[in-house]
Amino acid sequence: MVAPSTPASASKTVRVRVKRQDTPQAVARWEEFQVPYGEGANVISVLQWIAANPKTVAGAATTPVAWDSGCLEEVCGSCTMVINGRVRQSCSALIANIIQDDGTISLEPMSTFPVVRDLCVDRQRMFDNLARVKAWVPIDGTWSLGRGPLENPATAETRYVLSTCMSCGCCLEACPQFELEEDASKWDTSLQGAQVWSQVRLFNMQATGATLSNDRLDAVMGQGGIADCGNSQNCVKVCPKEIPLTESIAEIGRQSTIRGIKRYLGG
Ligand code: SF4
Ligand code: SF4
Ligand code: FES
Repeated sequence: MVAPSTPASASKTVRVRVKRQDTPQAVARWEEFQVPYGEGANVISVLQWIAANPKTVAGAATTPVAWDSGCLEEVCGSCTMVINGRVRQSCSALIANIIQDDGTISLEPMSTFPVVRDLCVDRQRMFDNLARVKAWVPIDGTWSLGRGPLENPATAETRYVLSTCMSCGCCLEACPQFELEEDASKWDTSLQGAQVWSQVRLFNMQATGATLSNDRLDAVMGQGGIADCGNSQNCVKVCPKEIPLTESIAEIGRQSTIRGIKRYLGG
């Protein structure tokens, strides 16, 4: 990373409040920084400036703030954090658009995942849940499985939207039923969440992926599964990809009901 000093185009400053936490067990604290910014600056560039100039507004030396990022174009989801109380990606959050009336912006880690350090959280639970529902298309191994079934072009548009999920975690942060669980041994029985159910819908719609439909539906019918959704619909409001999560929840609810009936009848 190239740590910038004051950007050449910087003409204004912003007061940035950051929730800091040195280790997963440490007590969180707030620190404030006065940061110069130029046109087009985003939250990541502000964090880079703080990394190069780790001094609070009170003049105290501190450590650089830790954060995650990857693509810098709202595709990987790794830079997700709570900005001014709302979960979103920090790479697409332009400073000029997010300064609050009091001249500040606030940055916090997501609250539904364990904090690793500062703004970095451990999203492994989300990826474990994707494995739990077999969110993949079975492909050839060391031998050919032959020609796969043809895809239905009529569902391509729907599948495309579902496939844009970047596992950012926004929908889980906003969900009142999805609670922080630090104990990884409990992730198998904790709420799976809208992101996973939407991926079940995607892979059950895909012709080759559909061969694992029953396994996926069995996984979402267990503890923490689709029946535990409270239907508050907070998830759909915060998805940066505008994925129709409530439609996915309804569809997977329907599929799991049919699966339940078939299982009852011995199918
Ligand atoms: S609709 Fe279900 S998954 Fe979405 S926020 Fe509400 S409880 Fe969570
Ligand atoms: S469904 Fe939307 S909010 Fe949830 S993880 Fe995927 S992209 Fe993020
Ligand atoms: S860095 Fe990838 S979404 Fe922001």
